[in-house]
Amino acid sequence: MSTAEMRTVDWADGVVRLIDQTRLPHELVIKEYRDYRAVAEAIRVMEVRGAPAIGAAAALGVALAALEGAALPPDEFRAHLNEAARVLAGTRPTAVNLFWGIDRVVAVADPWREGSAAGAANRAVAEAVAILAEDVAVNQAMGRFGAALINDGDTVLTHCNAGALATVAFGTALGVIRAAVAQGKRVRVFADETRPRLQGMKLTAWELARDGIDVTLIADNMAPSLMRRGLIQCAVVGADRVAANGDVVNKIGTYGVALACRAHGLPFYVAAPLSTVDLTMSSGDQVPIEERAGEEMTHIDGIRVSPAGVPVLNPAFDVTPAELVTGLITEVGVLRAPYGPALAEAVARQSRREEQQA
Ligand code: MRU
Repeated sequence: MSTAEMRTVDWADGVVRLIDQTRLPHELVIKEYRDYRAVAEAIRVMEVRGAPAIGAAAALGVALAALEGAALPPDEFRAHLNEAARVLAGTRPTAVNLFWGIDRVVAVADPWREGSAAGAANRAVAEAVAILAEDVAVNQAMGRFGAALINDGDTVLTHCNAGALATVAFGTALGVIRAAVAQGKRVRVFADETRPRLQGMKLTAWELARDGIDVTLIADNMAPSLMRRGLIQCAVVGADRVAANGDVVNKIGTYGVALACRAHGLPFYVAAPLSTVDLTMSSGDQVPIEERAGEEMTHIDGIRVSPAGVPVLNPAFDVTPAELVTGLITEVGVLRAPYGPALAEAVARQSRREEQQA
């Protein structure tokens, strides 16, 4: 299966199919889920991860719950769906796409408007499946806008995995790189390891190498020195949430990459769909930052690498202040500072377009 055909999150005949990312890069395993509770667990343990992929998986989880409750009376169906939404929303706190995906499906699965719980369940499935198709189209649009920012011969630094594996397909930051390569530009990618879970080493390096894109692995602490030596021309990363003022919440270490870019006069780009923008958060400091188990730091692939008994801090995300962001690549174009008005206008324009289409 080529990466173009690969779907990180998929739906077939009432079954959710997810690439199990905890098994990569060693084996490509697609797991099937028939129960929303199992989908919630897959999100929690990061079999599926990356903001848009989490949002799509959670939307399909709500669809599974709706099918499970399709024979219930309307009020019991509603209570059942609300419980499923609560369980799915409790899995990871930072990526806003999770809540966005759940809310979109719950909002349309109205048994009174649809005439029955069965009608609402069908509507839920259709909405969740639509989210999958939209995600791919949105990523391709971001790719088209973002590719213009990459020059022939550039080496691009990326952090974590904002690729096909973090979305339904194609990717956000890696979608920009894919689009630039498709235009015939010679692009080299430096993928940093992304301690502690190593998404850069395990996932980004895997998916780019598989596509024949020129990728080189570096440790997280090498980027500033490579910039100083002139070996990097820009950075492109993804986001888990973008606040109303343009602050970017993304994988821990993103802030350091942005600071290093600023110190070396290099552009720092963030590729994120509008579903990642949260206008209810006035700044990144309001966004809940997930704290994950210390074992992610103390162990690598189950093997202890630190002295026992030493406490560990493991925040999974950080906040990059908007003033360090050179451009925000979205599906409606590249937004520039001041991000407050640019984001408000882009989101309002998008809502108007959706209302006209409805
Ligand atoms: O903890 P993860 O692996 O889910 O974190 C993923 C990231 O931080 C990505 O950069 C972000 O979700 C954007 S993915 C297009």
